[in-house]
Amino acid sequence: MMQQSDPAADVRALAEELGLSAAETAPPLPAGRIIAVASGKGGVGKSSLVVNLAVALAGMGERVTIVDADLGTADVDVMLGLHPIYNLAHVVEGSKTLYEVILEGKHNVRLLPGGSGIWELANLSARGREAATDVLAAVAQDSDYVIVDTAAGISDNVIRFLLAADDVLVVTTPEPTSITDVYALVKVALAQGVGGPIKLVVNLATTSQAAEDVARNLAGVVERFLGGQLDFLGSLPTDPSVGRSVLRQEPVIVAYPSSPASRRIIALAQALRHEAPALQRRGGAARTSIPGEAKEGA
Ligand SMILES: Nc1ncnc2c1ncn2[C@@H]1O[C@H](COP(=O)(O)OP(=O)(O)OP(=O)(O)O)[C@@H](O)[C@H]1O
Ligand SMILES: [Mg+2]
Repeated sequence: MMQQSDPAADVRALAEELGLSAAETAPPLPAGRIIAVASGKGGVGKSSLVVNLAVALAGMGERVTIVDADLGTADVDVMLGLHPIYNLAHVVEGSKTLYEVILEGKHNVRLLPGGSGIWELANLSARGREAATDVLAAVAQDSDYVIVDTAAGISDNVIRFLLAADDVLVVTTPEPTSITDVYALVKVALAQGVGGPIKLVVNLATTSQAAEDVARNLAGVVERFLGGQLDFLGSLPTDPSVGRSVLRQEPVIVAYPSSPASRRIIALAQALRHEAPALQRRGGAARTSIPGEAKEGA
């Protein structure tokens, strides 16, 4: 029988299962920054933000990979006009290696597709979740940024991806239902050990002032009732160019680079690059609030 307590062997076995070579899995901590994008409510603009942030960062010279972790109902490939044959499910089940599945996508952004209509992916076992989140670390080995699109709602799948990221970025609109749902997600995320500060983007804002009001109120209740920190990264206006670009299956910053949404996306990408990562990666090692910590590297 195999020995019970050899973490190195466990990692090797998992790497073998994922089709990764030793060189791809060592060193243990990835170099790139993993940013997971989440929301409580669906349809608030997560995937649009993920795709456009990724393209914006790539345009700034960063090596960017999108991981579509909206497992089972993934649609980043559709937004990019790509037609993947394989997806994360094949990596998790071990029939394909990571590098057979990753697409050298458009606009200098790589994509690990999430798969659509796959029940097993939408309902991963604990082991499957572990394999899926380990994929993030492997992808980050040769990316500067890994942007992770997660599913709407609060599920074990989503929380695992948040725990595996350096930064968690939540998206809400100014609608009360969206705000309530993102608060619920932040509450669960903090309780499950996601460190902070969590970043917030307000999408579909009528004015910048309205977005700032939403952010201030939300950060206030997160601090008061949850003892957590929610940092406002910025907002995006309601912009018809976003919908038009989806129809063209192109990112809005490519299709309509001078539109209001595109300008704000560039600003968000710049803000991300200039901020130190929250570095709460590795689940259990999540950081709690240490005075002055958020200022680190500023
Ligand atoms: N700033 C914006 N202005 C106008 N329309 C937008 C904006 N952001 C997103 N949309 C539109 O809102 C819809 C939902 O966007 P998107 O698919 O990105 O949301 P999502 O949060 O990823 O949804 P889901 O939870 O279903 O994955 C799309 O039709 C998109 O074009
Ligand atoms: Mg989406």
